[in-house]
Amino acid sequence: EKGGWDSFMDKEIHEEPAAVQRTLFGRLDDEGSINLDEVRIDEHDFKAIDKIIVIGCGTASYAGMVAKYAIEHWVRIPVEVELAHEFRYRDPILTPRTLVVAISQSGETMDTLMALRHAREQGSKVLAICNTQGASIPREADAVLYTHAGPEVAVASTKAFVAQITAAYILGLYLAQLKGTVFRDEIHQTLDSLKAMPQKIQWVLDTQPPRVARAAEHLADANSFLFLGRHVGYPVALEGALKLKEIAYTFTEGFAAGELKHGPIALVDEGEPVVFIVPPARGRNILHSKVISGIEEVKARGAFIIAVAEEGDKDVERYADIIFWRPQCPTLMSPLVDVVPLQLLAMDMAKQKGYDVDKPRNLAKSVTVE
Ligand code: M6R
Repeated sequence: EKGGWDSFMDKEIHEEPAAVQRTLFGRLDDEGSINLDEVRIDEHDFKAIDKIIVIGCGTASYAGMVAKYAIEHWVRIPVEVELAHEFRYRDPILTPRTLVVAISQSGETMDTLMALRHAREQGSKVLAICNTQGASIPREADAVLYTHAGPEVAVASTKAFVAQITAAYILGLYLAQLKGTVFRDEIHQTLDSLKAMPQKIQWVLDTQPPRVARAAEHLADANSFLFLGRHVGYPVALEGALKLKEIAYTFTEGFAAGELKHGPIALVDEGEPVVFIVPPARGRNILHSKVISGIEEVKARGAFIIAVAEEGDKDVERYADIIFWRPQCPTLMSPLVDVVPLQLLAMDMAKQKGYDVDKPRNLAKSVTVE
């Protein structure tokens, strides 16, 4: 069943180009317009939506955080992202014009299911982004957008994450199309960028594993790691940190890079591995220079810098000890490629330490108790 791979995790990471491709497939008509035929919410109700709350747990919640940046930018309505178990028990403000988006790979996560029920009881519509046909969450939702990543067996979620981001982006572009908040041309351009991503993920899988393996070998004995990113790189940092906790049992923390000087920099000592997600430098991206100055600060304190950065980024070359390259792509698309070397890093480190990467201790694939 592993199709020649060492582990399901390895296999599933390598299925990411196909997961994105299949999630996109069939959603664009001949004119390039987005249609969501599995969605059974009236177009009128959709148009009236004035707030989105994305709920999920673990990796699914980080996919939701990525989606917030894109959907707010395109649709110009507020998007909140909340862990399903926190959302459910804090009396959230829900109206019939609130769309709750429940993201779940398994579709059976009890925390997310209870939150979905609560939202529907309060009169909000729920759209599920789910990878498992006919699971409880899509069954109870008002609408479903399936991710077609194929079955995910390894406990650590990998291909589901990129498929969830893809699906959430389709939803965002659909809403933008409906509400007229983005010009048609721009929607088409964004869709073209999205369609180019499977190839870019493939490029990472074809070229970066030797670099990742060297990093894993060098860092296998590290006691802790910090992961830092800004904008969409922030949830990617959180996801990279989660992967390493889950399967390599390494103590990690993910932070928004802007927080460094507000506390976390106190943790940085000689040799501390710090992973930075560096946004593209093109277009004089202000965030790029801000992340670079964060790198300079921790480098000055002796940190060991691992960077995920755009091919040819000279600033990064100057400071980083190890670089995982990303091919050029728009900032909003970068999480789809940036997460890949971080998943591989966690997997390689776990293997170095002799752990079972598919079945980490204390964890279940789907958490069906609250
Ligand atoms: O099946 P779900 O997407 O609802 O699962 C949510 C989390 O339990 C899940 O993402 C978990 O954090 C994974 N082990 C992450 O690798």
